[in-house]
Amino acid sequence: MSSEARVAVLGTGIMGSAVARNLLRAGISVRVWNRTPSRAELLAREGAQVAESAAAAARGADFLITLLPDAGVIEEVVGNGVLVSLASDGVWLQMSTVGIEGCERLGQLAAESGVAYVDAPVLGTRQPAEEGKLVVLASGPEDLRERCRPIFEAIGSRTLWLGPAGMGSRLKLVTNNWIAGFLGALAETLALAEAIGVDPARFFEAIEGGPLDAPFARIKGRMMLERSFDPSFTLKLALKDARLILEAAEDGGQRLKITEVVKSRYEEAIAMGHGEEDMSALFLAVAADRC
Ligand SMILES: NC(=O)c1ccc[n+]([C@@H]2O[C@H](COP(=O)([O-])OP(=O)(O)OC[C@H]3O[C@@H](n4cnc5c(N)ncnc54)[C@H](OP(=O)(O)O)[C@@H]3O)[C@@H](O)[C@H]2O)c1
Repeated sequence: MSSEARVAVLGTGIMGSAVARNLLRAGISVRVWNRTPSRAELLAREGAQVAESAAAAARGADFLITLLPDAGVIEEVVGNGVLVSLASDGVWLQMSTVGIEGCERLGQLAAESGVAYVDAPVLGTRQPAEEGKLVVLASGPEDLRERCRPIFEAIGSRTLWLGPAGMGSRLKLVTNNWIAGFLGALAETLALAEAIGVDPARFFEAIEGGPLDAPFARIKGRMMLERSFDPSFTLKLALKDARLILEAAEDGGQRLKITEVVKSRYEEAIAMGHGEEDMSALFLAVAADRC
């Protein structure tokens, strides 16, 4: 499918570069900017234009996609003449995970610049992003749905439209809480197996094909057992998300003790020097408690 849309992608890390590549494959014109230019330049070979500044990337663009770590960084980057550089009917698709309060702050920034704002965090990690199989959790003005469709179809397999801006970020926290709890339970299960002399392969054999089996457990479990943590999603960003979840839960009057423990495991693994590795490296903090 081809489109006349011009898209600016700010941030070409794991997610931003995969998203930019899939937009290019769909025939959409893409301009990228990244703080470290060498990471953006890799995309030039695939047809992206590489801009020298975020504002230059955004100039005249129909869509702005942000895939940066958190709301603070996005405010810094986007506050710098970016929103006013977009086409007069430009739309900001904010796809980073920024939590409820962060989403509101960024929405406010968009409103002050008269830019339409779609809160569109994504579900899926490196591989689904590279394969164009993300799930887009979109929320914002209904009348933008059709305009956004070619963009979301290029990067994802499904889009859920969830209501007013902010609902996407809320659902993203809910799904990430599921991931955090799952990962923590998986790490302790494999550590227990190792500690009591059970071959972890037997655990996977026991759950194989039944309702307890899950691709996520197999992917992350293999990384834990092999102590090999090439990042799909870094521990550092997983900790950021755990903080966002716990803040939102507190505001909503809900205590999440399991997530609190997982967050402390993330902190321990980061203190051990694994912040840039995959979130599954929290296993090293769990296994370090073996006496
Ligand atoms: N990876 C996943 O599985 C996944 C899934 C869903 C959602 N997300 C969310 O998507 C967002 C991006 O995640 P990612 O995994 O792509 O992260 P990443 O690979 O760590 O990339 C982070 C990007 O942000 C840039 N950046 C970092 N600090 C910056 C600063 N102070 N100023 C300007 N740019 C800065 C980095 O630039 P440099 O190259 O210069 O460092 C890089 O382009 C995050 O909000 C994350 O929570 C990630």
